[in-house]
Amino acid sequence: METIGIAVNGVTGRMGYRQHLVRSLLAIREQGGLTLPDGTRLWPEPVLVGRNEPKLAEIAKRHDLTDWSTDLAAVLRRPDVAVYFDAQVTSQREAAVRAAIDAGKHIYVEKPSAATLDAAVALATAADAAGLVHGVVQDKLFLPGLRKLARLVEGGFFGRVLSVRGEFGYWVFEGDWQPAQRPSWNYRAEDGGGIVTDMFPHWHYLMERLFGRVTAVTAHVATHIPERVNEQGRRYRATADDAAYAIFEIEGGIVAQINSSWAVRVYRDELVEFQVDGTEGSAVAGLRTCRVQHRATTPRPVWNPDVPATERFREQWQLVPDNEEYDNGFKVQWEQFLGHVARGEPYPLDLWAGARGVQLAEAGLRSAREGRRVEVPPL
Ligand SMILES: NC(=O)c1ccc[n+]([C@@H]2O[C@H](COP(=O)([O-])OP(=O)(O)OC[C@H]3O[C@@H](n4cnc5c(N)ncnc54)[C@H](O)[C@@H]3O)[C@@H](O)[C@H]2O)c1
Repeated sequence: METIGIAVNGVTGRMGYRQHLVRSLLAIREQGGLTLPDGTRLWPEPVLVGRNEPKLAEIAKRHDLTDWSTDLAAVLRRPDVAVYFDAQVTSQREAAVRAAIDAGKHIYVEKPSAATLDAAVALATAADAAGLVHGVVQDKLFLPGLRKLARLVEGGFFGRVLSVRGEFGYWVFEGDWQPAQRPSWNYRAEDGGGIVTDMFPHWHYLMERLFGRVTAVTAHVATHIPERVNEQGRRYRATADDAAYAIFEIEGGIVAQINSSWAVRVYRDELVEFQVDGTEGSAVAGLRTCRVQHRATTPRPVWNPDVPATERFREQWQLVPDNEEYDNGFKVQWEQFLGHVARGEPYPLDLWAGARGVQLAEAGLRSAREGRRVEVPPL
């Protein structure tokens, strides 16, 4: 058994605690560690890092862990810590990742990999120059619904893909009469918030991995709810975008339209759904399920508003079977990343892929600001 020390910074946050510590690293320990292809077992040893000592101590106690610190610099000096992981608020990421690169630690970070494209590129360049393995979270790629969608693409189900339409969102409470279900920094531009910065990196890796390079974006953004109530019960001005209506152009003439909104009520089967239409068939994929309609089973509706709809369109689709077991997406990606670290191999979902996500978010915001289509050069 080989032990690998991992500094987990931002472990008191929503993502850091639930998805990365509990559902990934501790879950890997519960299964006895990670078995590598050559048979060795890797045992992740998390070092909890944060600003609040009592909170860290409480999390450590809850999970029988003993290693925590509020001193990142000291943790980065430890030779038994090989990996630095960052799930802090986005605005704090750059400086901490930079320090970890300087200390020679392998890097794994939440998305967006930095607050600006310049910073994201600088981090990717520095990590390459230092010869480190680096990765960025791309969890949606590992969700069952999107895995099944990827399987359809790889199997040639769609023929030529024509278009993608994505609908993401739900109502995030304003925080007055019911508490908000997302942290308030998400709604303040000055603290790194905004739905474009948050969600376009996700849409970017999905489009890039499934369909091809994104070449241009046209976006309209809005702040539909201008005032919210924070964690302390105080009103604040929401300065960041809470909805984005975007058209993405993908190489090969594919058009993707994706709506992202925290001010929309759900009349869908899942919180995010993508419909993909191709010459040979179509699919609708959510987080868990995926349905298809083949060319041969496509109905022939005729537009006639004078008679009620007689066809049950939703019933004309077929469920794509699982055909495999799906583990937690964050955990699957952690296992991939740690495997690459152990073998000293570059990880494909790297800081460059992360930078391309940040690039798309910046291009989207620029498109909205300037009221025009913005091309996205290769990076
Ligand atoms: N992959 C995904 O699906 C996904 C989903 C949500 C968020 N995220 C990303 O994860 C990161 C954390 O998001 P979250 O929702 O867990 O946020 P959160 O507010 O719940 O947690 C933020 C963490 O950062 C720490 N922190 C450090 N410096 C801080 C500062 N100056 N102000 C506030 N907090 C500070 C907090 O203590 C906390 O541990 C963000 O970069 C976000 O973009 C990813």
